[in-house]
Amino acid sequence: MTKVLPFFDLSRQHRELKPEIEAAVRAVLDSGRFILGPAVTELEKQVAAVVHKKEAVGVSSGTDALLLALMSLGVGPGDAVLTTPFSFFATAGVIARLGAVPLLADIDPLSFNLDPSGAEKAIRAYLDRDPGLYPLPSGNWFPDADRRTPTAERLKAILPVHLYGQSADLPAFQRLAKEYNLPIIEDAAQAIGAGSPDPEVGAYGDHLVCYSFYPTKNLGGVGDAGMIVTDNPESADKLRKLRVHGASGRYIHDLVGGNFRLDTLQAAVLLVKLPYLERWTGCRRENAEAYDRLLTATGLPARGLVIPPPAFSGRTSGDYDGHIYNQYVVRVRDRQGLQAFLKDRGVGTEVYYPVPFHLQPCFAYLGYHPGDFPQAEQAAREVLALPIFPELTREELEYVVEKIAEFYRSS
Ligand SMILES: Cc1ncc(COP(=O)(O)O)c(C=O)c1O
Repeated sequence: MTKVLPFFDLSRQHRELKPEIEAAVRAVLDSGRFILGPAVTELEKQVAAVVHKKEAVGVSSGTDALLLALMSLGVGPGDAVLTTPFSFFATAGVIARLGAVPLLADIDPLSFNLDPSGAEKAIRAYLDRDPGLYPLPSGNWFPDADRRTPTAERLKAILPVHLYGQSADLPAFQRLAKEYNLPIIEDAAQAIGAGSPDPEVGAYGDHLVCYSFYPTKNLGGVGDAGMIVTDNPESADKLRKLRVHGASGRYIHDLVGGNFRLDTLQAAVLLVKLPYLERWTGCRRENAEAYDRLLTATGLPARGLVIPPPAFSGRTSGDYDGHIYNQYVVRVRDRQGLQAFLKDRGVGTEVYYPVPFHLQPCFAYLGYHPGDFPQAEQAAREVLALPIFPELTREELEYVVEKIAEFYRSS
């Protein structure tokens, strides 16, 4: 029997919440307060409480959360920000959009996250680099920006990503940040609630943590939305200003910002969904455990199928758990074959992400080459995300595993 099992099916969640969502949307329509209405402030308050932070600033998307965070640190042309080569494009795109350079280091092959020891080597190499011209985006938006000499002051931040919903090695990055006097911006677009409650809350108080509420995230809106959280009230004030064209009062602009406001309608829908987040993440974890167990029982790991290692195994530091499984990602040598096989049998899968940043056409000017980040390149060739959404039934999940086993039997 061939089923149709989409990779992600939001309609199931919306069927359950339809009356609540419709009522929330109607309330906003009736209020007429579409721009930064009360639902935005309420959502900021509630998300801050859920992730144990003092301040939250709702913005227009996860991409804009990252962009604003960088802007608030004054990142600009000729600067550099250290990040991973293996993430959604936005992570590096926002750095380049400000005229800065994404400084890359390889990933840890188990967690897929930026490897702190590689990151430190990249920082040292950057600081030791001969003074000279430093690349800017071709056709860059800053034609007058001189290609300034990189110095310690030009390295502006560390931007680790919590890929697939698993926290990067924050204790290690915290040590690096201290040693090199760098702020940390966390790309937690895929990771709301990961590693939470954070055992070192406070230690990370100055971090700017960026979330996306893109519909496929664990907490997803009905359109684009995002948020930045921090324990630093001054950072939050600056972010709030930047969100409204840098305005401190009506038509008085202290800074050049932009229109990065979170839509009241999105906030209202997200407020309906937030109380379900823990339950949904629990369902994702149960699905992940079931995949772990069933895939292990097939014996396929011995034939080269790599299931996600237990959260944080193989890590050098940090002991907190809390993968939220925004994605359940296996590694497979014949990915194309398996993906096509599953598609023919009605199972949707996705590849996050097939091309690492250093091999993207738009980043050719950075001067990286194939082979520079072998772990990221291998991951890009092998990763395959299986359906993991909370409403996935056990029967459907078993069907996915059965078809994967069938693929290996037939190949
Ligand atoms: C790791 C990562 N960073 C940034 C983003 C950007 O978020 P958004 O799509 O809300 O702009 C996403 C979301 O797709 C993401 O997965």
